[in-house]
Amino acid sequence: MTHSDPVNFLQGKRILLGVTGSIAAYKAVSLLRALKARGAFVSVVMTAHATEFVTPLTFEVLSGERVVTDLFQMHEEMKHLSASENADAMVIAPATANFVAKAALGLADDLLSTMLLAAQCPIIVAPAMDGGMWEHPTVVEHVNRLRARGVVVLDPEEGPLASGRVAQGRLVCEEKILEAVQSALRLRSDWQGEHVLVSAGPTQEAIDPVRFISNRSSGKMGYAVAEAARDRGARVVLVTGPTALARPCGVEVVSVTSAQEMAEAMCRHLEWATVVIMAAAVADFCPKDPASQKLKKSGRSSLVLELEPAPDILTILSARKTKQILVGFAAETEHLLEHAHRKLTDKGLDAIVANDVTQHGGGFGSDQNAAVILTRDGRRREVPLMPKRRLADEILTEIKSLRAGGRTSTAMAREEDNGRAR
Ligand code: C5P
Repeated sequence: MTHSDPVNFLQGKRILLGVTGSIAAYKAVSLLRALKARGAFVSVVMTAHATEFVTPLTFEVLSGERVVTDLFQMHEEMKHLSASENADAMVIAPATANFVAKAALGLADDLLSTMLLAAQCPIIVAPAMDGGMWEHPTVVEHVNRLRARGVVVLDPEEGPLASGRVAQGRLVCEEKILEAVQSALRLRSDWQGEHVLVSAGPTQEAIDPVRFISNRSSGKMGYAVAEAARDRGARVVLVTGPTALARPCGVEVVSVTSAQEMAEAMCRHLEWATVVIMAAAVADFCPKDPASQKLKKSGRSSLVLELEPAPDILTILSARKTKQILVGFAAETEHLLEHAHRKLTDKGLDAIVANDVTQHGGGFGSDQNAAVILTRDGRRREVPLMPKRRLADEILTEIKSLRAGGRTSTAMAREEDNGRAR
């Protein structure tokens, strides 16, 4: 390999190749060979319909392994379930509309769909479908669901289909599938060795035992960041305010309610962390003296609550941090960049992710978001509206390049101090 050769992330990796019942199934034979030629160990699983197009024997000879298709070959099933748990990547090519639907809904009525649910690795889906199915609203919805979950779904190509009709539906070319697998494997390991402390969700500040002040944060952005960091090899602690979201697996979750509790949990884990990402929408003010009993309305014509500032967690962390990269979020309704810049400086951050929560299609509760990422070294990166899970990856990539530059805010402050001293 020369210096200019791209790194081959497939070397020695375990790839599960799922083949479903599309006429394009024969192209998976060539894909299998290409994956093997790059040093990957490939196991093939076929759906029953796929075996109508290509015989399992073809894949068996080329992969050197038995190809399993039947969920009820119990022994083989157990072996294969652990294979999907241990795989480095799972590639479904071609994926039919039926398979995409099952994957989106989590159905598990055959071996391949069951294995997909057991997979802990990046999943790449390359759909192939005839008859304009790719544009059908249900297919669009299923594809969006999968993408929001972090599954890489490759757009099929436009061209003549098996039916003779010309439309978008042809299996994407082999090079693009290989590229997507390489890129998923690269991403999977680029955060290895990092300890990421993420906060997410709103906080609730008690007024009395049954009432509280809170905000509209769903926690989706912070959870997406935690999951993306986990998928890229980091160890992750997620400190979360109350949300309706499922706990992500493979991440240590610390549940808190108030800003004070969140501040304590974040400070407890600060020393362990190498990167801290404050995606939580923490209260700025909380009731000064929460009532110990439920407040009664009888006899009152009005009620005045006295509020006091909640702890500013980022400012506290910034004062205590040593080596950590500190990243904040700025959810704004106006003057986005100006406010974000001010927070970046005032809170002593290495980067800030600014988003306009009033914009259509993004912000609180939505599965999508757009953002501008500003870094302490003066970089500015605009990320268009996309699923929060993908945005999370963009944010991590940006933070990673900050790390590569080796200049955290502490280092820069030191440089500035040295500059002043000279
Ligand atoms: O100043 P503002 O609250 O808008 O800044 C937002 C950023 O500061 C977010 O990253 C948020 O998590 C963090 N924050 C904090 N403590 C607070 C309020 C916000 O750490 N009390």
